[in-house]
Amino acid sequence: MSLFDTKQKMDALMAELNQHTYNYYVLAMPTIGDYEFDKKLEELALLEQAHPEYADPNSPTQRVGGDITKNFTTVKHKWAMLSLGNTYNEQDLRDFDERIKKAIGDNFEYVCELKFDGLSISLTFEDQKLVRAVTRGDGTKGDDVTSNVKTISNIPHRLKSNDAPSLFEIRGEIFMHRAAFERLNKEREELGEVGYANPRNFASGTIKMQNSKEVAKRPLDCFLYSLNTEKQYFRTHWESLQAIKSWGFHISEHTKLVNSIEEVLTFISYWQKERFNLSYDIDGIVIKVNSYAQQQELGFTAKSPRWAISYKYKAEEVETILEQVTYQVGRTGAVTPVANLKPVLLAGTTVKRATLHNANEIGRLDLHLGDHVFVEKGGEIIPKIISVNLEKRREDALPVIYPVTCPECGTTLLRKDGEVAFYCPNDEGCPPQIVGKIQHFISRKAMNIDGLGDETIETFYQKGLVQHISDLYTLHEKAEALKTLDRFGERSIENMLKGIELSKQMPFEKVLFGLGIRYVGETVARKLAMAVKDIDKLKEASLEELTAIDEIGARIAESILEYFSKPEHQHQINLLKVYGLQFQAEENTIPLQSDKLTGKTFVISGVFENHSREELKDLIESNGGKILSSISAKLNYLVAGDNMGPAKLEKANKLNVPLISEDNLLELLK
Ligand code: IVH
Repeated sequence: MSLFDTKQKMDALMAELNQHTYNYYVLAMPTIGDYEFDKKLEELALLEQAHPEYADPNSPTQRVGGDITKNFTTVKHKWAMLSLGNTYNEQDLRDFDERIKKAIGDNFEYVCELKFDGLSISLTFEDQKLVRAVTRGDGTKGDDVTSNVKTISNIPHRLKSNDAPSLFEIRGEIFMHRAAFERLNKEREELGEVGYANPRNFASGTIKMQNSKEVAKRPLDCFLYSLNTEKQYFRTHWESLQAIKSWGFHISEHTKLVNSIEEVLTFISYWQKERFNLSYDIDGIVIKVNSYAQQQELGFTAKSPRWAISYKYKAEEVETILEQVTYQVGRTGAVTPVANLKPVLLAGTTVKRATLHNANEIGRLDLHLGDHVFVEKGGEIIPKIISVNLEKRREDALPVIYPVTCPECGTTLLRKDGEVAFYCPNDEGCPPQIVGKIQHFISRKAMNIDGLGDETIETFYQKGLVQHISDLYTLHEKAEALKTLDRFGERSIENMLKGIELSKQMPFEKVLFGLGIRYVGETVARKLAMAVKDIDKLKEASLEELTAIDEIGARIAESILEYFSKPEHQHQINLLKVYGLQFQAEENTIPLQSDKLTGKTFVISGVFENHSREELKDLIESNGGKILSSISAKLNYLVAGDNMGPAKLEKANKLNVPLISEDNLLELLK
């Protein structure tokens, strides 16, 4: 959905919901059922989470008592949360430096910090315990989001050392790593949910969620960058940062103490490029006078301190040529336009393609073939077209016209009510949909079939060897045909057939996820498998029975009903049953004790005081977490015991993977 569409849609939903509320409460003449109303309210709440910048404070979702969002308690900040003055060029910074010199002379230092692109948070600690976490709000008062913030593993609930004052407030920025953002947003989009525009919106949408269990599923991180105490304990900002660190808080390793504006400018130009190698977004640099006494001397304006300023980086933008627009058809039939560009260097990588999202985006840009377009790389990995350089458009340029029929199979495209994406309804006959569904079935998170990859599925489909998921289970009868395929030796055929055979042991929840029912993601599949236990019961369940299951809403329930209403799907399931796949939850499946660790990944290393490694593994898995075998940037936690290998430790530190003890792990489960 383009941002323009999103805003329009949110406004329309709000107006409609307000009208219904008026009809119900004032006129006592409801024109919509409760269920319909709740669905629309839920839709608006989701859009508001994804685009808080468009959320209206008087939105019907904010009404206390509604079960979608209820207001958080408002808390007055003990120390106002001010903002920072912005600069965008060297001269502004030199002017800032001159102002400082005029007020306090030449003898001072600056602390240079990264400006993390997230949401600021104020944490209050009393007697070494986290008692309150409050958002910035309007600067004088904010929302109490303590229970949500407690799900962030980098924020200690209780300090290990007793050195910290008995009461203090610490501030920092909550954010989401880019990799987690890309992964979770992709998952959302695959499930047909609205994607967040950037990691910042995802992080702030998450912190404002009502259900802390949901928050815990989304990996957030936090850097702390300032301390407020009643008495002055430290002489400088730098000293207080070192103290904060020794108390167990996560501070940025990139913060630097410097002596002159020249050094500040060097820091800025270094991070101008290097910021793209960070695992999270920054939107600038913050420069602070180091000495507290000098900070006091400089004081504040009405809105911001005179002793600090931010330097904002401009989003990198280049001009290039739109060569062609191609259309990708996904496994759900959604048709996404992609701009093919003349390759151009942008923010350290060569850009050849840009996403166009949907038909409305093409309309908004009024794109013509051969247009000179401005491409920007923001937080997201995939760049986007910001605007067209109209002065360079050729008079005979042809407008880009979104197709009326599927570019893959020729079926007339449809658009569902209230949705912006066009889709191809030919799910049984449209090649990329068929291939996409089988690729999803074999994928790591679903049936995880060894010896089979996306390209092989593509080839098998082209050669007429597979048309449906069930055809995978008759491939062993086609050994001769397989042998004729290029780069497909006896060994790989054997491996693949073994992998397919083994997949028959995969638990019901994985099979269910693999079927690719719209909105049935990994977690939902597990919930359904645990609750319903059997595919036949699922097939027969009514809307009411389905929505009675914890966390299954109307949208998911409707999609399940629609899936089973198609005879072809029932036929496939019957065949898969005959081939021996698991369609019942095993009797001895230990039900999940909780899903507190769902979506989180762990590596366990070293020796532990109170548990064996095996026990910790069981504990993690029975609460929904996943054990990985090696450390990567995407890892959520390294559970570290004694005698852990130095190489592992170094890798974890380098990739910024949080280390947790067995106690921390137990705390996550509380
Ligand atoms: S210090 C008096 N340091 O930027 C303001 N802020 O534009 C004290 N931010 O609301 C803020 N990184 O949310 C500070 N290293 C950093 C920061 C930082 C990001 C955010 C913060 C603040 C906003 C001000």
